[in-house]
Amino acid sequence: MAVFPDLLTTVPLSDAAAMRLAIDAGQRVRGTTYPNPPVGCVVLDANGIVVGAAGTEPTGGLHAEPQALAMAGERARGGTAVVTLEPCNHQGRTPPCTGALLRAGVARVVYAVADPNPVASGGSQWLSERGIEVVGSFRSPEVADGYLRPWLHWQATRRPHITLKTAGTLDGFAAATDRTSQWITGPEARAHVHVDRSRRQAIVVGTGTVAADDPQLTARDSAGELASSQPLRIVIGNTEVPEDARIRGEGFRQIRTHDIEVALDVMADMSLVDVLVEGGPRLAAAFLQANAVDAIESYVAPAFLMAGLPVTSGPEHTTIGDITRFRTQSVETLGGDVLIRAVRA
Ligand SMILES: NC(=O)c1ccc[n+]([C@@H]2O[C@H](COP(=O)([O-])OP(=O)(O)OC[C@H]3O[C@@H](n4cnc5c(N)ncnc54)[C@H](OP(=O)(O)O)[C@@H]3O)[C@@H](O)[C@H]2O)c1
Repeated sequence: MAVFPDLLTTVPLSDAAAMRLAIDAGQRVRGTTYPNPPVGCVVLDANGIVVGAAGTEPTGGLHAEPQALAMAGERARGGTAVVTLEPCNHQGRTPPCTGALLRAGVARVVYAVADPNPVASGGSQWLSERGIEVVGSFRSPEVADGYLRPWLHWQATRRPHITLKTAGTLDGFAAATDRTSQWITGPEARAHVHVDRSRRQAIVVGTGTVAADDPQLTARDSAGELASSQPLRIVIGNTEVPEDARIRGEGFRQIRTHDIEVALDVMADMSLVDVLVEGGPRLAAAFLQANAVDAIESYVAPAFLMAGLPVTSGPEHTTIGDITRFRTQSVETLGGDVLIRAVRA
């Protein structure tokens, strides 16, 4: 079960506050449900108190709504279900969530994003026709541009959603000229990267990073313990990855190409919905040049190196018309560093 008792409350919540909890529940199962959407659901009783909270189980398991409703039991009657995605209306591996909501006797359903999948959509209308008050598109941009973005991108394009992670100084360097790069950003930023990795399906680097750093690319906690959900580790480039490289082992894959479109095709064939590209500079530039970057996560340390290895290293000559712009979504302080999140402009 993907139920979250710590999200239950003893005080009534507004729809907006309840949606924030539903987003939290969805975030917690992110990376474990694809190709199914990582939906979050909270159930409020008739007084607005949270009595159920759940996220989608891995493929073949239960959706978020029936789990949250089971947790709520009779207290769901006359209450409200707050869901990040429109409740599904079709019999797949599991029965439709709309039926579960009706049987549980909820009076209202509030959801953020309409289901773009024609097979599963129509839940909103089905519920309205049976006398349940439905509020759709509630806080939709927060969800559609936020944690559900990769899945919505996959639904629309059948291509992986690419987030480019960079980490560097204020003057844009990822390493010093002697290639030392450890601890440019602080422990909070590094811990954040590990949580982020645990929510992705795959992490991608170039062969240059493997040769220079021999990274493990696993998701670990501050004690070095592996997180319960680990992304696949993908290396792009033609150079053979050494037999004893730490990145090898279960969940390792090399894609031998310089053509980013080909790499995207291979990842699409692997049904990868949510991919984090961690560099290095040449691979990062290649993804940008191929217009293949959907979102940015840029960790910036308030520090200068004045020379070194830039966070991206692409063509020698550019003009201002070549600029690749993104739209800032959020700016967060992590210890002494800053995380800028942006999406394709
Ligand atoms: N601070 C950070 O966030 C960060 C992150 C990662 C790396 N780094 C640093 O980056 C350095 C490595 O830099 P790098 O640029 O050599 O690493 P890289 O970008 O990881 O690897 C470059 C390799 O990627 C392959 N590749 C695949 N498609 C390509 C394309 N379209 N264009 C160019 N190359 C393509 C090529 O491999 P083949 O030649 O094998 O075909 C190329 O040699 C290390 O010092 C590492 O510490 C820093």
